[in-house]
Amino acid sequence: MTPEVVTELSGMHLFWRIPCFLTNEEMNYVYLVRCTDDTLYCGWTTDLQARLKAHNCGRGARYTRSRLPVELVYFEEYEDKGEALSREWHVKRMTRKEKLKLIYQKEAGAMKEKINITEYANLITETLPKGILLNTNNGRFNSMVIGWGHLGTLWGLPTFVVYVRQSRYTKAQLDQSGEFTISVPLEGIIPSINRICGAKSGRDTDKAAEAGLTLVDAETIHTPGIKEYPLTLECRILYAQDQDLMKIPKDIRERMYPQDVPGTHPMANRDFHTMYVGQIVDAYIIR
Ligand SMILES: Cc1cc2nc3c(=O)[nH]c(=O)nc-3n(C[C@H](O)[C@H](O)[C@H](O)COP(=O)(O)O)c2cc1C
Repeated sequence: MTPEVVTELSGMHLFWRIPCFLTNEEMNYVYLVRCTDDTLYCGWTTDLQARLKAHNCGRGARYTRSRLPVELVYFEEYEDKGEALSREWHVKRMTRKEKLKLIYQKEAGAMKEKINITEYANLITETLPKGILLNTNNGRFNSMVIGWGHLGTLWGLPTFVVYVRQSRYTKAQLDQSGEFTISVPLEGIIPSINRICGAKSGRDTDKAAEAGLTLVDAETIHTPGIKEYPLTLECRILYAQDQDLMKIPKDIRERMYPQDVPGTHPMANRDFHTMYVGQIVDAYIIR
């Protein structure tokens, strides 16, 4: 039997479920084992099965020798030995929390399939008015529903533009973190997500927990994507600009930005939008 190969990211194969071991002399593995004292040890090998056996016979690393038995909890496969050794160096230097994240993502079955955004332009544009998610993370994660935005090109770069009112908790998050992720459902919006993330504020509640969102670490920025809305765009803010209300056509201005109305009005007074242009730095589907 062969391990289940699910995806390939820049030459790196990620195996998330292992029906049994397959040793392949051509392959290089970076692995994590959990020791009997619950600590994690990272190593490199070309033969996982033999290496695990060696660890458990006390012929593995000095670190694991006094912490037996060990259990394999994670591995990545590389065709290139240099790449594997470099990855091992990095994983060894990760904090325990970061190593646990790798394992957790494996267990959650979260993998990313890179996409060509233009192939999904129709889906994104059609779903947008129904409500997709704009996620921010400034130490605290928050997700808000947006219905306005554009996928396009600016200064020769792929971009996604969002419009966020001044009153949103998301606005402060964007201004502080300088980045966001966009999450789009592949099979229609989930009404409960719209109800919670499109009406409640991150100021008052942990919307991700309330809406049951599964957060998946991003590849290049610090704002996670969402498994339930798997199409993910990672964006770094290139440019932001407040709307000039006087330049908005009068009928739209009066409808969307009513002035001198009670503060309880949902679009009250000076609650105009700021436009944020995000450069799309990564795009994938979380599988
Ligand atoms: C379908 C839909 C689309 C929305 N689009 C936007 C939008 O584009 N910009 C915006 O500022 N608010 C929009 N909202 C409102 C916010 O999602 C809502 O006010 C949210 O509670 C703000 O959350 P926050 O305070 O945590 O940022 C939309 C809401 C819904 C239901």
